[in-house]
Amino acid sequence: MEVFRIQGGRALNGEVRVNGAKNAALPLLAATLLTRETCVLRNVPDLSDVRFMIEILRHHGARVETPAPGVVSVTAESVHPHTPYELVKKMRASICLLGPLVGRLKMADIAQPGGCVIGTRPIDLHLKGLSRLGCTMTQHAGYITVDATNARGGRVFLGGPSGSTVTGTSNLVMAAVLTPGVTVIDCAACEPEVVDVCVMLSRMGAKIEGLGGPTLRITGVESLRGVTHEVVSDRIEAGTYAIAAAMSGGEIVVRGAKADHLGAFLDKFEEAGADFDILDADTLRVRGSAGRLKPVDITTLPHPSFPTDLQAQFTAMLTLAGGASTITERIYPNRFMHVPELNRMGANIAVEGPCAVIRGATALSGAPVMASDLRASAALILAGLVARGETWVQRIYHLDRGYERFDERLAALGASVERLRQSAMPADLRGE
Ligand code: UD1
Repeated sequence: MEVFRIQGGRALNGEVRVNGAKNAALPLLAATLLTRETCVLRNVPDLSDVRFMIEILRHHGARVETPAPGVVSVTAESVHPHTPYELVKKMRASICLLGPLVGRLKMADIAQPGGCVIGTRPIDLHLKGLSRLGCTMTQHAGYITVDATNARGGRVFLGGPSGSTVTGTSNLVMAAVLTPGVTVIDCAACEPEVVDVCVMLSRMGAKIEGLGGPTLRITGVESLRGVTHEVVSDRIEAGTYAIAAAMSGGEIVVRGAKADHLGAFLDKFEEAGADFDILDADTLRVRGSAGRLKPVDITTLPHPSFPTDLQAQFTAMLTLAGGASTITERIYPNRFMHVPELNRMGANIAVEGPCAVIRGATALSGAPVMASDLRASAALILAGLVARGETWVQRIYHLDRGYERFDERLAALGASVERLRQSAMPADLRGE
């Protein structure tokens, strides 16, 4: 296992380009199973989750090549329908194979994912959608078998207690594009990553109306063709670098930060006193703002509202704001595992149910901390960048699921971040 050692207090300066979005790349890779022809994805981030998705595609019989950095070519002449538990339990997002398997093979046999550290993460809406299409489902020994032989499309409302479902929407679209008849999805997720999936499918020959809106109308076609597609840039990675810049001194230009995809984030970033300019549709310039940050109240909700995937990082930033901020987490009410670790660094954050109250401004101090999930890892690293002294972040494998070479890229901006083997960490500092 690896750890990060961070010496806080360095200003960040320079330029960083964000990669393709993990949350688009995973369903886009799954969507390549919908055609026998070759699909080429560009701007694919080099992440452990992406490498794992490639392994899963190979398991399903696809030929996958990576001819150049960021390029993945998939040819799925034949596909088999069984996705074993060993694969699904390693990466929950493997459930995004369900739609492509149903679309292409008219059947799927996939292990049901469990919860994860950020919540219970049910898939009831995915299954409701498939049953409205006319699929029959049986559950056995932790697996779901779907038979879509008689599926003819239909109308489905995909809203749940926390709004729509991102992967559920992509799954249903991917199933419906090759299902005869018309499928209408009401309360479809509008996240840019879902739109990117719909854009690629349309270019493969799918008939999808309403892209980017809450109602999608899909007319099934007989087959899809191969395509070359560039993965949309990662708005969460862009937001994370923007927060890093605001927390530290200095000035960073973040390329690939699409203001159109970051509306709610930029609104709160501005309200919190962050000093930034939108240089063009794809570029932000952010200056160190620590002494001027103000408290704000944030509620996470589905896109276009504030994304839950930037909540932990924003929480880290708000520890530097003078006064009380509140965070209400409406997507994953228990997603506050970063809070006790930030408190170990001197933050004053109280959690009560789905709400956190952050009282600042805190002069954070370095400490050994433990990452619990992907975005929590990023939040702890951001805190480490501005903390007095040395911060050790353990369980960095969570970070590597979603941030490509985060350590090297922060170091290139002037941060002191080193990736070390866990054995290099003094034994008395280790949490395990
Ligand atoms: C995706 C993202 C994840 C992000 C999340 C919310 C990927 C690979 N992951 O996860 O990074 O945090 O969106 O923006 O794209 N729900 C149900 N029933 C369902 C499905 C979901 O009740 O069948 C609930 C969930 O418990 C949660 C909410 O709906 O409260 C949103 O979940 P969903 O949008 O499905 O998240 P994911 O697609 O798993």
